[in-house]
Amino acid sequence: MTATKGLEGIVAAASSISSIIDGVLTYRGYNIDDLAEHATFEEVAYLLWYGKLPNEAELQDLQAKLSDHASVPAGVIEQLKLFPSEANTMAVLRSAVSALALYDDGANDMSAEANLNKAIKIQAQLPTIVAAYARIREGKDPVAPLAGKSIAYNFLYTLLGEAPEPRAVEAMDKALVLHADHELNASTFASRVTVATLSDIYSGITSAIGALKGPLHGGANEAVMVMLEEIGESRNVDDYIQDKLDNKAKIMGFGHRVYKNGDPRAKHLQKMSEELGKEKGNLDLYEMSVRIEELVTGQKGLKPNVDFYSASVYTMLGIPRDLFTPIFAISRTSGWTAHILEQYENNRIIRPRAEYVGPSTQAYIPISER
Ligand code: ACO
Repeated sequence: MTATKGLEGIVAAASSISSIIDGVLTYRGYNIDDLAEHATFEEVAYLLWYGKLPNEAELQDLQAKLSDHASVPAGVIEQLKLFPSEANTMAVLRSAVSALALYDDGANDMSAEANLNKAIKIQAQLPTIVAAYARIREGKDPVAPLAGKSIAYNFLYTLLGEAPEPRAVEAMDKALVLHADHELNASTFASRVTVATLSDIYSGITSAIGALKGPLHGGANEAVMVMLEEIGESRNVDDYIQDKLDNKAKIMGFGHRVYKNGDPRAKHLQKMSEELGKEKGNLDLYEMSVRIEELVTGQKGLKPNVDFYSASVYTMLGIPRDLFTPIFAISRTSGWTAHILEQYENNRIIRPRAEYVGPSTQAYIPISER
């Protein structure tokens, strides 16, 4: 038995939810480029959960359910108030989602219908939790989401406390579409491993949030913004990046385990970053990002991944840096829950083997003789 480091190239599940074939990403067979151009996040969530695009009535029905479930139990809001105001936002989200299970009488109901309803409910509640914590830590009251509005609209509305610009809602919605699912990425795999023991859906999402938090995965979008802030202005880009490259440091937002010729999601975020920069009359972040890409791709052949341009996009939407990864989680909840439902449908516990590289047989020595 020989281990493959990082399970690279190992096919660990059969799935009909999303695919990456020859560098092309599809959700249920629909190219991500088409979905990013034409579909809303709610349509995409429906597609991931039900395996088909909704008609008008089906979409309205889902939107109504998402609206109905968007409020969060008062007990969870009270807990958010008890958390330190400088807490890591992904740790807050991980704890809050775990707490949601305590207020759901059906948390352990394993029927397919109950699990689908919980998927919709968790999807509706996550944005409310993220926005509520962001306000609570600033001493403000949480804002209730508005019925009949999209997740993108309500997230910005409940976070910033005022009606968002249509352009901002459109950009947020597109970002949510682009992050919704991504085959067997680390956090999705973590969620499938957890629920394959027949543990509940809240446990699966809690595991996934823990996995997404790391800077090699979803945490990279925040790390990109840290880098842009450290660079400060365009004239510093070359020295800063050259220093990192010379020291063989990782440049956040570049590289990918599966895509070697570029992440198909990155171009959409790049375009959005440029458009928002033009509208705001400030292209600094966009131009710094483009120069970083020129240097990193030019010298290392590494292409930007989904996290790279999302950092400048979210900043231009007025979102604090430590909410970038929670936004990723809001979107990816649709994919995580779709994968959890798929795992339950055709379950077998996930229990691989390890290549043992420790000492060979040792004689036990009583503690008094050690
Ligand atoms: N900057 C500089 N060098 C890099 C980078 C990077 N961002 N990414 C990979 N490399 C180099 C590695 O140092 C390594 O070089 P070596 O062979 O000389 O040692 C080589 O490219 C292969 O890299 P690995 O880390 O082995 O690739 P792996 O497939 O294990 O990791 C990962 C992929 C984690 C995405 C990696 O590229 C990385 O750390 N990128 C930065 C973090 C990031 O942006 N993560 C988000 C990924 S997308 C997502 O999860 C949403």
